[in-house]
Parts: sequence; C-alpha cells; structure tokens
Amino acid sequence: MGNWLLILTICAAAIQSCVAVDRGNFKTCDQNAFCKRQRATQPGNSPWEILLDSLNSTINSLQVQVISSRSQARLQLQLIALADSTLHFELDEVNPIKLRYRAQESLSGSPQLSSLKITEQSSDSISLSFGGTGKAILLVKPFRLDVYDGDQLVISVNARGLLNFEHQRVRKSNEAARNEEPASEPTEGETTAEAEIKHPDEKPVEEEEEPGLWEETFKSHVDSKPYGPTSVGVDISFPGSRHVYGIPEHADTFALKQTKNGDPYRLYNTDVFEYELYNPMALYGAVPFMMAKRQQGTVGIFWNNAAETYVDIEESSSGSVVSSLMNLVSGGGNEPHQQTHWFSESGIIDLYIMIGPTPKDVVRQYGSLTGKTPLPQRFALGYHQCRWNYNDQEDVHSVNKGFDLHDIPYDVLWLDIEHTDSKKYFTWDPVKFPDPLEMVHNLTANGRKLVTIVDPHMKRDSSYFFHEHCEQNDFYVKDKSGKIYEGWCWPGSASYPDFFNPAVRDYWASRFALDKYEGTSLDVYTWNDMNEPSVFNGPEVTMPKDCLHYGGYEHRDVHNMYGMMVVEGTIRGQLMRSDYKLRPFVLSRSFFAGSQRFGAVWTGDNIADWEHLAIAVPMLLSLSVSGIPFCGADVGGFFNNPNTELLTRWYQAGAFQPFFRGHAHLHTKRREPWLFDEQTNKLIKASIKKRYTYLPYWYTLFYEHEKTAVPPMRPLWMEYPQDAETFSMDNQYLLGDSILVHPVVRSGEQEVSVYFPGVDTLWYEIETYKVYEAPGYQTIPVAIEKIPIFQRGGTIVPKKERARRASSLMTKDPYTFIVTLDKQGKAQGRLYIDDGQSLEYQKGSYIILELNMEGHTLSSKVTNQGAFETPELIEKIVIVGLSRAPSSIADNTGRILEYRYDATSQSLVLRKPNFSVSNEWSVNLKM
Ligand SMILES: *[C@@H]1O[C@H](CO)[C@@H](O)[C@H](O)[C@H]1NC(C)=O
Ligand SMILES: *[C@@H]1O[C@H](CO)[C@@H](O)[C@H](O)[C@H]1NC(C)=O
Ligand SMILES: *[C@@H]1O[C@H](CO)[C@@H](O)[C@H](O)[C@H]1NC(C)=O
Repeated sequence: MGNWLLILTICAAAIQSCVAVDRGNFKTCDQNAFCKRQRATQPGNSPWEILLDSLNSTINSLQVQVISSRSQARLQLQLIALADSTLHFELDEVNPIKLRYRAQESLSGSPQLSSLKITEQSSDSISLSFGGTGKAILLVKPFRLDVYDGDQLVISVNARGLLNFEHQRVRKSNEAARNEEPASEPTEGETTAEAEIKHPDEKPVEEEEEPGLWEETFKSHVDSKPYGPTSVGVDISFPGSRHVYGIPEHADTFALKQTKNGDPYRLYNTDVFEYELYNPMALYGAVPFMMAKRQQGTVGIFWNNAAETYVDIEESSSGSVVSSLMNLVSGGGNEPHQQTHWFSESGIIDLYIMIGPTPKDVVRQYGSLTGKTPLPQRFALGYHQCRWNYNDQEDVHSVNKGFDLHDIPYDVLWLDIEHTDSKKYFTWDPVKFPDPLEMVHNLTANGRKLVTIVDPHMKRDSSYFFHEHCEQNDFYVKDKSGKIYEGWCWPGSASYPDFFNPAVRDYWASRFALDKYEGTSLDVYTWNDMNEPSVFNGPEVTMPKDCLHYGGYEHRDVHNMYGMMVVEGTIRGQLMRSDYKLRPFVLSRSFFAGSQRFGAVWTGDNIADWEHLAIAVPMLLSLSVSGIPFCGADVGGFFNNPNTELLTRWYQAGAFQPFFRGHAHLHTKRREPWLFDEQTNKLIKASIKKRYTYLPYWYTLFYEHEKTAVPPMRPLWMEYPQDAETFSMDNQYLLGDSILVHPVVRSGEQEVSVYFPGVDTLWYEIETYKVYEAPGYQTIPVAIEKIPIFQRGGTIVPKKERARRASSLMTKDPYTFIVTLDKQGKAQGRLYIDDGQSLEYQKGSYIILELNMEGHTLSSKVTNQGAFETPELIEKIVIVGLSRAPSSIADNTGRILEYRYDATSQSLVLRKPNFSVSNEWSVNLKM
C-alpha cells in the first residue's frame, strides 16, 4: 500500500491542491542532473575509438580498450559469447578510482559460455561469429558494435555515437588540496585516473561550474555525490524493428511509445501514490529488458544495471544520418526503425544481446540468464482475498465463513499491516489477534492458507527483538556519514536492514522458522510490501542515494535491486522452515530482473476506475514478456469504491490473469462479494468459479514456463510473430497457445470487437462453442455475464469442473478435457500433474499426459508413467467441431462409451469414461 496517511495529512494541510499523484514528489529528467547530461549527448560525433594493439582474445571472449580522443579516458571492452545466441557486452573503466558496482544477483547463475571467433580483422573493423548464426562487427573509429542474425543487421550499439561513460575523477578543489599535501599519495588506480583527467580538453574548471556533478538538491533533500559524476549511457538501435516492448514497470501501452517530446521511460523503484496512466514515470519495479520486433524476427537486450536508469525511444526518420549509415551496412531499404538510448546513474555498461529469432527464443535466452519462475504451489493460482485490513480474528473468521455460506471458492486470506503489534513485523497485535494459530488452523481446516505482510522497514523500538538484533549486529543500512539510517514509514521512525549483506538475509530468513515467527504454521505465507524501499520522508519517497550498503556501495548503485533482495531472504526463510520440502510463496511489490525466481508481483496501488482495469492488460503483458510471468493487478482497484459493474468486470478479467487477488484500501467500503446485490454476487461467484475450473490448465502453463521460460499470459505475437495486426494490441492476449482473452474494460459495453489470429484457424467461444474464423475481427456481444474467451481449434484444454471451497479440496477430483477440432479434425493438448505443493516434482515425481486427436481417435500418452501416483480420473470429454454424430464410440479395450451429441453446437459429450490419468487410453469415434 502507499503512503496514504502521509498524503492524507498533506492533503488536509492544503485541501485545495490535493490531486491524485503528487508529481512534485518525483523528479523529471530536467530535475535530474545525470539524465540531463546524458540526454544532452549529441549524436553523430563519437570520440570513442578501439585501440587495436590492446586486443586480446580467448576461445569465448575478446578484450580490447576503447579510448576517447577527446579526454583520452580509457574503457575496457569485453565481449563474451554465451550459449543460445547471446552476446555479453561489458564496458568498464580501466583502473577506476573506486570499483564500479556490478549487478550479479539478477543472474540465476554463471551464464554458459559459447565460442567466439574472430573471422576477419583489419585496421577498420573486427568481424566475429558467436553462437550458431550470430555475427558481429566491431568498428574501430568511431567505436561501434553491429550484431547480425545471419546477414540481417539486427542490433547496433553506439551507431548514433551517444556513448557517454563518465569516468571517475577527483574533485578539482580536492585535487588542489592534495597537491599541496604530499602525505596523501594517491593509489596506483588513482594515478591513472587522474592522469586521464588532466588532459587539456577535460576542462575541469567548466565541470565545476556545471551544477549537479558533485551535489544535487531535490526539494529539501541534498544528494552528496562523493564520487562525482559516474553515469554511463549508450544508444542501441534495432534496424528493421518498428516495435519495442518491455522495461516494466510503467503504466503505459504495451508497445512502447516515442519519448522525444517528453521524459524518457524511467526505471527507479518508487512508491507512487495513485499513479497516473499512459506516462513514462517510474513505478515500484524495474526490469531493464527490452524486446524489439520486426516482421521476420525478434531480438532482446538486457541492461544489467541496478542504478536509476532511463530509456529514450525514438523512431529514426528515413534519410537521417544514422539511418543512411545503417543502410550502408545492411544494404536494406530505408525503413524507419526504433532507436533507443539507455543511461544509468552509476555502475558499468553490462549489456546482454539476444538475437532470437522468434519471441519464444528471446524469452528462453533471457530466462536462461535471469531465471524462470519455479512452479508455484497450486493454491497460489487460486483466488486470494485481501483487504487493508481484516480487523481481527473474528473478522477473519466471519469472512472465511462468508465464502462458505455463499459457496464461493477462495484459497488464501491476507492480513495487511494492522495485524501486527504496532507495525513490528513478525509479531501479532495481542488484542486483535490473540489466537493466531487457532485462526490459521480454522482456515486450513477448510483447505485454505493465510498470508501475512512482512515489510522491510523496522520499527526503531528498543523492545523490538528484530531492531535490537540489527543494531547489535550492525545489520542496518547506513547514512552517508556511516550512522544507521533512520527514515519514516508505517511504524514511525524505522531503519532498513541491509539485504545486500548475506548475513542479514540469513538472519531475516531464520525469522520465518515456526518457532521464531510465533502464531504461524507451514500454511502461512508472505507478502513483502513497501520494499522499493518506501521511505515517507525520503527523497522521492525512498532512501537517499548516498546511503551506504554492504561492500561499501552507495544506495545509488543498488537501489533497483533492494526489493528483490528482501524477497530472496523471505523465500529462503520459507524453504528453510519446511526443510526444503514445500514450495514457497511470496508476493512482492518491488522487483528487478531476476525477481521472477522468487515469486509473484502485482502492479501496486491502482485505482477503482475503468482506465486502471484496462491498463492491467498492457502492464501484465510487459511483465510477462520481461521474464516476470506470475503477476496480477488488485481486483476491484485499491483506492476508491468500484461500482458493481466495474467490480464485476474486474473479477471477470482478473479470473483470467495470472495472479488473482481482490484487495482494497483501508478507507474503502467493504467489498466481500456477498455485500452486493444478488446479481453482482452471482456474477463475481461465477468468475471465481470459472477460474477454478481452469486451474489444471494454469498449472500446466506454469510448469511449461519453468521449462521453457514462455509466460502463461502472452501477447498474440508470441504465437503469431508475423501478424502485424497484433503488434500494438493492448486489449487482448493469449493464455498458453490455446485460450484467447478479450476482457471487457469499458462501462456499459454491449459488444466488443475481437481479433482472431491465425491462418485457416478456428476459435470457439468457451460457453456456446460458437465458432469464429481467423484471421479477422468479429463483433462479440458482451452482456454483463459474458467474459469473451475463446479456445483455438486444434487444442485440448484440461479442466476440473466440480466446485469446491478451495483448490486443495480439488486434488482428487476428476478431469474434463475440452477438445476443439481444427479444420482437419485434429487437436493436441497436455496436462501436467504432481502433488501440487512439494518440491518432489523437481526430482521427477510428476506425470504429463500428451493428448492427441486425429482421424476420429483421441489418445493419451503418459510421460513419466508411474513416477507419480494419483487416483484422479477423467470424467468427461467434450469434443467440439464435429459436423455430425458418430454411430458409436469405443475405447481401446472395446468398451462402448455413452455420449450425447448436440447438433446446434456441433459438440459431443462423452460421459464418465473413467480413464485413469496415469494410464494410456484411446477412444475411437465411429463415424
Ligand atoms: C592478454 O591476456 C593474457 C592472459 O589474461 C595476459 O597475460 C596479457 O597480458 C593480455 N594482453 C594484453 C595485450 O592485454
Ligand atoms: C475457530 O473456529 C471455531 C469454530 O467455528 C470458532 O468457535 C473459533 O472462534 C475460531 N477461532 C478463531 C481464532 O477464529
Ligand atoms: C464410471 O464410474 C461411474 C461412477 O462410479 C459409473 O456410474 C459409470 O457407469 C462408469 N462409467 C463406465 C463407462 O464404466
């Protein structure tokens, strides 16, 4: 949740000017010295050149120095070939005064190396080959890297000459002082760096005059910059690509927009109150990953830098200097393409280039660098009921009973900050929650779970064990003077554990042990909120950049990764408390590249209005293609009260998005579904139940994600990469390759125009089996009870159709398969099954049914047969797209099966075949 109370106070003080987001709390590029400096870099005149006589190479890599003809500053370039058509580009200072921070925690391990060959070398360029089809050319003067897929130029680095690497320097005044005082001899590193800056062109005097190099003020906050200007930036162009995606988190369209006439997209994790839509302002999380799409191919780049980062996007105009340069190389037409400009306040240029060529190739390549989301427990894919706050254990009891009474399934009840004793995490309010264990037991008796919030701001209270322990062990983040940093957050005065210190994460993790975190059981999971970190009285509502972390790094260097490190500790705590038997579950508001390895995220504090419902689709698609597939938006909207139509539509949409949680602000009206009129209650219940019927499909998709990195929720172009109609689509998406969703996101909507992708492809509406032919748009009526969802012809989707109170009560329920035939009468699908909760599946304890329909025979093949035992049966098979009834149906043992054929919907229902999911079987339709 946001810093609502604080804003409330501010609003009360200035009631006339209380608007939604307080933009004034957040910097624009113009108010940010490094953004202004980097953005002012002029294209077309890059001073950087390769020093060929410094060239060195191994079978996997190449090292060479790059020098600025203006300042003589030297950079070390390293190119490393990685497995799966990936090239790692690293640019750092030669002999820096202070080692620059390198983000490592984003990576899931050491990337696998591949071979890098120098195929040609001249005084102008070095040609390289890497991976399978990858080729690259390093141009010497000016320095530039062109990357090819086969013969097609796909990525060009520094083609516009915007490389701007601010080397560290000694402040002029300090330097003068030092010269008079021989006692403080500079170290070896400093000598080199200083030698570089004494070049006459460097003009240190002018630098002193440019404001913001050594100190910067925003509102009342002064950012001291002991290392001076350290920002790094370069341009990256995507010849042939008209569309770029990714770099979440922004409340903007899925296909990213041009930024020339406004601010660049900003990546700086912040707690933004009532965020505005369709703008490039930073939000709670940052993933510096981008995908660029051409008609014929896809590439990706990962800018592995945890400091504040900006991305400018500008479409090249044909005939510009740069585009003609491009043409020279590619020999292609002069089509406009996307040019991007990336810059970060500190760190190095640590760039991973992935050449696809399909969208699924790129997500796999990125997934092997930063990791995938491990299969969650099944309950985590069910419905979550949250509110700030369920007031006390009686309230929890009655909400839980309410779901039973009204026959609405849900899996998890959530407790926000008010459940704690004075906002001291890992504790309970003794008056409101005197018997937490009994409360948890009452939930689990119904197959449900509890989530409690655990935030990283620790109340500065000497009677609080956590605070005392952090003080005693020196676990807190320090301010610039080396004293423990104190900020203001929910508990009042608070300090922040330094999660970059492994000992701090170990301690944090240990506190989740059941004997340490009293009142919890293995059925209690965790919500890490406010982990940007949110600091109510800090600059831009977060921690000052000159705060100090483990290893001597500044907060500026690591900011965007703080939230992820909190979650890493939490995940490990949950694993440890179950002796590494149960899969963990954590929801986090803040995230970075790699956060997907630790669980789910949501889009933060949204608003109960139609625009926020609509923006959830592009926001979740951006997360999904950027490696974070387990994501959702607060159903109903966090702030304000949705009317019943909006709430109904929101449940209908949320039921078909990966993380499905209802949540509401402290000052909103209660929203449990039964508090509304009968029709609304009925429709919300129907949406939630529909979610539960598709859980086997969701679960299979998440399993496949862990194997392939392909996200369950995906843009249409991930399956139809050449269909240009889908490239900037914000209002519909696919679940897996089988289900098409077009949520209704406008008030009073009577019909929607749905685009059906594919050539010669059929799509069946999931309730009526009405069939639509692709490609093209069709008008679909959407009365209030209608969720426009379609299953592609040629697929088989597994479902469980018996309604239960929670997913854990469905484990033994039988399956239904929906078989929708394509024009050839064929269909394929798969079902993944395991115990739904433990880590045994990673050791092979699971089964996969491959289902195939062809020539009027539907058959199952079991992968891993016998590895996982389950009593689950198949109780129903629906075959859709049959133009006439068969004369009889028999299974592989000759048993005649009962069925019912419906000519109107051209569908056939096979009732109670009772096949075991563990055995192979087939049914033959005698036509
Ligand atoms: C090349 O690398 C080798 C091994 O790391 C090193 O000994 C040598 O000095 C390097 N040469 C240059 C020109 O950097
Ligand atoms: C647990 O459930 C029992 C039976 O419904 C109820 O009497 C009791 O108050 C519940 N306890 C808590 C702590 O919710
Ligand atoms: C499947 O099981 C149900 C219930 O046990 C039974 O009524 C039905 O006849 C069985 N179907 C077949 C084809 O044996």
